[in-house]
Amino acid sequence: MPRRLTRSLPNPAELKNLLVFDKPSLDRRAARLSKAADVSDLRAIAKRRTPKPAFDYVDGAAREEVTATESRSLFQQCRFVPSVLCGSPELDLTTDISGGSSALPFGIAPTGFTRFMHAEGEDAGASAATDAGIPFALSTMGTRSIEEVAESSGSGRRWFQLYLWKDHSACAELIKRAEAHGYDTLLVTVDTPVAGERLRDTRNGMRIPPRLTPGTVVDAAWRPEWWFNFLTTDPVTFASLTSTTGTLGELVNSMFDPALDFDDLAWIRSLWPGKLIVKGVLNPADARRVVDLGADGVVVSSHGGRQLDRVVSPLRQLEEVVAEIGDEAEVIYDSGIMSGADIAIALALGADFVLIGRAYLYGLMAGGREGVDRVIELLRAELVTVLRLLGLNSVKQLQRHHVITPWDEHKQRQEV
Ligand code: GLV
Repeated sequence: MPRRLTRSLPNPAELKNLLVFDKPSLDRRAARLSKAADVSDLRAIAKRRTPKPAFDYVDGAAREEVTATESRSLFQQCRFVPSVLCGSPELDLTTDISGGSSALPFGIAPTGFTRFMHAEGEDAGASAATDAGIPFALSTMGTRSIEEVAESSGSGRRWFQLYLWKDHSACAELIKRAEAHGYDTLLVTVDTPVAGERLRDTRNGMRIPPRLTPGTVVDAAWRPEWWFNFLTTDPVTFASLTSTTGTLGELVNSMFDPALDFDDLAWIRSLWPGKLIVKGVLNPADARRVVDLGADGVVVSSHGGRQLDRVVSPLRQLEEVVAEIGDEAEVIYDSGIMSGADIAIALALGADFVLIGRAYLYGLMAGGREGVDRVIELLRAELVTVLRLLGLNSVKQLQRHHVITPWDEHKQRQEV
């Protein structure tokens, strides 16, 4: 016979202790951000607060978005193998990358059109990165100039991302300005001979500069803060480009040269004295060739699935690239990083460092500078938890045996 529950009336003094109401906060942005428990919550806030064409430009990818979706699902299918009873009071998240140090094993990826996502744009990204002690990469398609971002980043590390394009003298000019303004690394993106087909952008009629249509006026009623910022701050233009009107595809295709090749990379190497990292490499043979041409590293990336849809997921290619060049050059991973666990997986598979693009922009759209701070804080906290639960006290201790990938299981089945 189970023991019967005995009941008594609650004591008002005890009830009082349970009733805790948060003081209403006047800082609505801070209150909103503090409730976001992960990057996906920031994405949900971003979606509510940002007009559809801007949100979709970030959230979307090429064609049917197969590669972008797969990049996420591969991370979710990886499994950790922890060790227990090997704790330590110390915890080291610092990483050496591209000739300098970073307080965390990730940096902010170059992203285009950033002030269209939120008026604080690159200024928010660069200053948040400096405060967090991580590098910030400015894109050639950025909406602040090399000089403006140098000012926002102050004493922080800054990288400049260059597209190889038709007008070589314009490229050379940007390289000189980046060198003169303290950018320590040039990321040369090579996966964009033509623009990827981003169907959401086509459907949304995404153009530069954005057009005010009756639809956008209706949107303004729902997202007044975004529209107020957009209409009262500097016009959103591509600060490093000369031709800046049309659809994104038109713009990219008019400036970028589909004939670019390894000789062009060698030419860039001859102009740039700092670290040179080639972004958008997916096969080991290409990685070998760019390192032989003098690159200091590569970024294994599918451009967030925004270029060739159905291209192999970079996470699958990472180990092969590391096997080919990892002893001589650095390997950075980019595409699909949304959590500290994802960062730990990429590092365990051999990456020296990772870049966050969409995750950063979700934070930016959700709350400007404070939103970027929140993304960095969430990723950092998640990474700390994962390391602790794996029994590690440094990101440098992450090893291949800490992760089982879907392709390991496949290989094992074949061997049986
Ligand atoms: C720019 O690099 C983009 O992917 O839109």
